[in-house]
Amino acid sequence: MCGIVGVLGNHEAAPILVEGLKRLEYRGYDSAGIATVDAGKLARRRAVGKLANLSDLLVHEPLAGKSGIGHTRWATHGAPTVDNAHPHRAGPVAVVHNGIIENFKELRANLAADGFEFSTETDTETVALLAERHLRNGLSPQEAAYQTIGELDGAFALAFLFDGHDDLMIATRKGSPLAIGHGDGEMFVGSDAIALAPFTDQITYLEEGDFAILTRTSLEIRDQNGELANRQKRLIQLDVARIDKGGHKHFMAKEIAEQPTAIDRALAAYLGHDNAINLPEALDFSKIERVTLVACGTGYYACLAAKYWFEQIARVPVEVDVASEFRYREPPITPGTLAIFVSQSGETADTLAALRYTAGKATQIAGLVNVPESSIARESDVVLPILAGPEISVASTKAFTCQLVILLLMALKAAEQRGTSLPAGLPQDLRSLPGLIHQTIAGESKVKSVSRELAKAQDIIFLGRGHLYPLALEGALKLKELSYIHAEGYASGELKHGPIALIDENVPVVVMAPSDALFDKTVSNMQEVMARGGKVVLITDAKGAQLASDGVTETLVLPEVNDALSPILYAIPAQQIAYYTAIAKGTDVDQPRNLAKSVTVE
Ligand code: M6R
Repeated sequence: MCGIVGVLGNHEAAPILVEGLKRLEYRGYDSAGIATVDAGKLARRRAVGKLANLSDLLVHEPLAGKSGIGHTRWATHGAPTVDNAHPHRAGPVAVVHNGIIENFKELRANLAADGFEFSTETDTETVALLAERHLRNGLSPQEAAYQTIGELDGAFALAFLFDGHDDLMIATRKGSPLAIGHGDGEMFVGSDAIALAPFTDQITYLEEGDFAILTRTSLEIRDQNGELANRQKRLIQLDVARIDKGGHKHFMAKEIAEQPTAIDRALAAYLGHDNAINLPEALDFSKIERVTLVACGTGYYACLAAKYWFEQIARVPVEVDVASEFRYREPPITPGTLAIFVSQSGETADTLAALRYTAGKATQIAGLVNVPESSIARESDVVLPILAGPEISVASTKAFTCQLVILLLMALKAAEQRGTSLPAGLPQDLRSLPGLIHQTIAGESKVKSVSRELAKAQDIIFLGRGHLYPLALEGALKLKELSYIHAEGYASGELKHGPIALIDENVPVVVMAPSDALFDKTVSNMQEVMARGGKVVLITDAKGAQLASDGVTETLVLPEVNDALSPILYAIPAQQIAYYTAIAKGTDVDQPRNLAKSVTVE
């Protein structure tokens, strides 16, 4: 993970670097630091914790200079301490790194044998020391950086700055993303275009193995074979004001509230006024024999819900896998496979690696991403932007519901092209979703009081059946992530095969059960919980509440919804429970401990 930013500018670098880092903090917030070159002199400032701590430090110990690099860290090697914070410096070299240097132990041993000393526990320090060794041996900064990266195994995006060089930066990538921003007599580097949005809209993405030499007025890129490469300069339209909470206390609250608008936007793009489903023409489900869906975390649960839709509605066999398993399992990918990769960021390392595994094997690769310029988008045959708008809070909310909407539209399109019948009311009932979600969000007062009670528990179980099962998993993930309460999601029918042993009056059970065809089955499972003293929070609709509220501790009543759409609507109380439980526990809602928004290391 980690975020990198760099500038060779005409104004003071420190505020520019901090502004860029603010937009990259979603990648990690264990520490932050910057280094600048001022009148040829390299210096740095670093602080543990969030970027605000670095900003405070810079007030007391400002750093001058118009050239600089910056970093926000998600710790991999070594605890979040000032010593381990980037930029790392060795003599005249400072370096910031996103990724993991896998051979750092061998490199450390080699450097130690040569008399080099270490002041950090990080893998990155070896990069700075290797470059320093090459400089001592008489190489130029460019050659020193180039030789250094040839010695590294693993994944990296790196930016180097050198003492004595006000107008030089080296940027290079292998496995981790990096973009160059073109200004007017200025040059920028960033882990993504979002970081560069306040400074320029002209972006060049480095490709695998690229090595870039930047000055204020020039950019030379060599590819992985050392050949001069001509990389396209793109015009990127990004919302510069995207890091605004819009009057909400947290980004998560804002993003929950934005779901009606986000889904409206997705429907406007993919569902015509005549209810025609408008997906990219290249997607042809009539030739597809099976679908493989791959993602991580919340995206994986969206894929699990989509399995029900694709199989029940379009009668296509579906496999779903977490990317970190898929990529190493070497699953056979036979012709006729549509491989769909779902990722909010489009940069998740495992999902990207899984995509690369299927390249050349699957008939078609589709990427469902929220960041259309991301690596997953750029490497997919067909891209379906989910159009959720920027999602800043680490916990995914609106990206999840937009992923669900688009996956459902894909399943409906597949049904249409394969001649299977669509569920009654679809796709037109999708149009009711924004209103129903709005209504659900507005009725949140009871969720607050339920969450205050849940906050007292140490373990919580979520249950769901059918396409509400993935929602039980998502509800548990969201709660763990935000409140640090241990939570597990189970398929209701699985409870009696083991987890029921956990049930007593101290383990609340949240049951997600709209009054659909499987309602009675879930209610029976709920009775089994209550018979053992378990306290149940039932999330259902008015009909379900009327039929099954007896003995239930709390009932949250949602609007009635077309059965096929219930996973989308029931995502809202799952998000609200996690949000308000976190508030009750006083945890950091938008930046929970140990996490990062974009997981660019495996
Ligand atoms: O950017 P991605 O969708 O690929 O991210 C995948 C997961 O890291 C992400 O969904 C994570 O599980 C969320 N923090 C959950 O809220």
